[in-house]
Amino acid sequence: MDRAPLVLGIETSCDETGVALVRAHPDRSELVGEAVASSMDEHARFGGIIPEIASRAHLEAMVPTLDRALEAAGVGLDEVDAIAVTAGPGLQGPLTVGASAAKSLAVALDVPLYGVNHVIGHAAVDELVHGLFPERFVALVVSGGHTTLLRVEDIVTGVTELGSTLDDAAGEAFDKVGRLLGLPYPGGPHIDRLARSGDRTAIRFPRGLTAAKDQAKHAYDFSFSGLKTAVARWVEAREDSGEPIPLEDVAASFADAVADVLVAKTIAACRREGVETLVIGGGFSANSQLRDLATERCAEAGIDVRIPPLKYCTDNGAMIAALGAAAVRRGVPPSALDLPVDSSMPLELVTV
Ligand code: KG4
Ligand code: ZN
Repeated sequence: MDRAPLVLGIETSCDETGVALVRAHPDRSELVGEAVASSMDEHARFGGIIPEIASRAHLEAMVPTLDRALEAAGVGLDEVDAIAVTAGPGLQGPLTVGASAAKSLAVALDVPLYGVNHVIGHAAVDELVHGLFPERFVALVVSGGHTTLLRVEDIVTGVTELGSTLDDAAGEAFDKVGRLLGLPYPGGPHIDRLARSGDRTAIRFPRGLTAAKDQAKHAYDFSFSGLKTAVARWVEAREDSGEPIPLEDVAASFADAVADVLVAKTIAACRREGVETLVIGGGFSANSQLRDLATERCAEAGIDVRIPPLKYCTDNGAMIAALGAAAVRRGVPPSALDLPVDSSMPLELVTV
């Protein structure tokens, strides 16, 4: 019989209720079952996530999603050895619903509880797909809320923030440009689709924080708000002159500007840190312009790039169970049962 610890992961930081079961083998993490429910359809008409609606949706979805995950895994609750839950960063109300469910289960089952970092989970999920991480690597986590470069010596105990966005996250910039181009919310996937049939060299948009003067203080930081404004100005000028807006070319040129900066800074970080492995995660790593450019330039630079499949890029329970499994494997102490949730949890705090 397989006695490797079975970790139940619960994710509720935004609009997805994710539950998954991961087995923490000594030499690999195995996803054995998962389920996700999303309240995105309820938010779309507001053009953004409404925290109160998300909280109520998590409350309704929690038990059915847990049941579906257990059924998919073919295990009973009594087989769970540890519970991992997102402690932050994210929306306070939604995080509280997940943490309350996780605490109740931990008490009822008498198993350890780990409050874990959502952003680090976006990288950790890759261990389920491409095997355990090497000793040192760089991680780029890009989502609707975060754009962060990390140096990782150990995914649980050795994460260092190299840089982050100073203003908008990459996904947020896509969503804002999507709005100004009249695309439905969230705009990210729509821009991606349009960009695939556009000319990325049609318009030269600015690459934020890449000038020589930015290298000293902001070599690994990002800024996308100037780019977003440049797109808005370009579109306005076209509208004023009565010319049609070439949506595909605008999308392709904008997406290329974002991918170019992300990939250039990330490869520079890999070189400077002397690492040969790059992990890319987060909802925005679904973006095809980023995936293509990272794959192409990492091949040229001799860097092994690991990007999880699309379904593990967006928020899900597997990323939290994967990080919980990594914590269990290392024997780190569990969290207290009164663990707080922290909407702005620091990135270097992987477990609380
Ligand atoms: O990680 P995630 O699911 O939620 C957060 O934690 O933020 O990321 C969602 C973000 C949204 O901004 C969405 O527009 C963006 O990722 N996104 C994309 C694509 N798929 C999702 N942006 C560009 N291209 C995509 N294919
Ligand atoms: Zn996320």
